[in-house]
Amino acid sequence: MLKILLFGKNGQLGAELLRSLAVFGEVIAPERGQSGGDLANAADIRGAVLRVMPDIVVNAAAFTDVDAAEGQPDIARAINADAPALLARSCGETGAWFVHYSSDYVFDGSGGTRPWTEDDPARPLNAYGLSKLLGDQSVMQNCARHLIFRTSWLYAAHGENFAKKILRRLRKDGQLTVVNDQFGVPTAANWLADLTVVALARVLADERLAGLYHAAAAGETSWHGYACFVVEQAQKTGLLAGVPINAVRPVASTAYEQTARRPMNSRLDTSKLRRTFGLNPPDWQVGVANVVEELA
Ligand SMILES: NC(=O)c1ccc[n+]([C@@H]2O[C@H](COP(=O)([O-])OP(=O)(O)OC[C@H]3O[C@@H](n4cnc5c(N)ncnc54)[C@H](OP(=O)(O)O)[C@@H]3O)[C@@H](O)[C@H]2O)c1
Repeated sequence: MLKILLFGKNGQLGAELLRSLAVFGEVIAPERGQSGGDLANAADIRGAVLRVMPDIVVNAAAFTDVDAAEGQPDIARAINADAPALLARSCGETGAWFVHYSSDYVFDGSGGTRPWTEDDPARPLNAYGLSKLLGDQSVMQNCARHLIFRTSWLYAAHGENFAKKILRRLRKDGQLTVVNDQFGVPTAANWLADLTVVALARVLADERLAGLYHAAAAGETSWHGYACFVVEQAQKTGLLAGVPINAVRPVASTAYEQTARRPMNSRLDTSKLRRTFGLNPPDWQVGVANVVEELA
């Protein structure tokens, strides 16, 4: 029976990990407001690792508001880079495994339609992406026993995400505009949490599989395509009756004001994940349809 220390249990992914990680044994998941649960408090989180002496530390906590990070880059860096660095160092000292999550926003969105591999150079366009990239680098430097999963456009029935915002806005205003020239893949938090368990079981048996992996659903779409699919599914389930599909209007990024710049090409190449763990990510539509049904 293993002991796992989980940070961020109230987030989209954290809530799913609280469920999936239980197969390994005891999951200790401090609240942000509790002793040992605040990533902004370095002494506190290091103390939690040394006190609990877990076999595995899983960090699903992060500063995830991409636009807010532009105005608070120091806080984003403290939570997304300094805290993971410290957790990784603590794991390096105690021999624990460290599992961490990162983002497609470490890339600059160039490269046309070619999906990004783990070996491609990361050049973030915004403060959030930079803080996540610094986090990745420090985890790799400070703890050999690491798993980092870079994912994209995460969603779940629990927590806050694009799909839920779309549904709220359509119910309130009856229409909205969504960018149609940024491409990526919506990825289900429950799939990523289950994948974490499969990968952990494998690395616990073979340390050579430690490393950085791109982990996203199969296929691709734009934010506009994603929004239209959500609306279609919401109509089917009766969640959004009477709202026509053309209520979601496409708009170019250049005509849509956002505080943080975002990559046009957020596609992640998951070949390494497929090859190493023998996993085939599901098509993105499957998970989105399930979550809309759950919301209904
Ligand atoms: N969301 C996406 O589209 C997306 C895309 C790519 C990668 N990712 C990455 O995937 C991971 C999980 O994302 P998510 O969508 O599940 O995030 P989320 O739903 O926004 O949850 C993040 C969690 O972190 C917690 N947190 C924030 N600051 C903290 C602090 N100082 N101390 C302790 N906890 C703190 C939050 O606590 P409160 O509940 O108290 O605020 C929240 O529970 C993150 O590493 C993120 O960067 C996300």
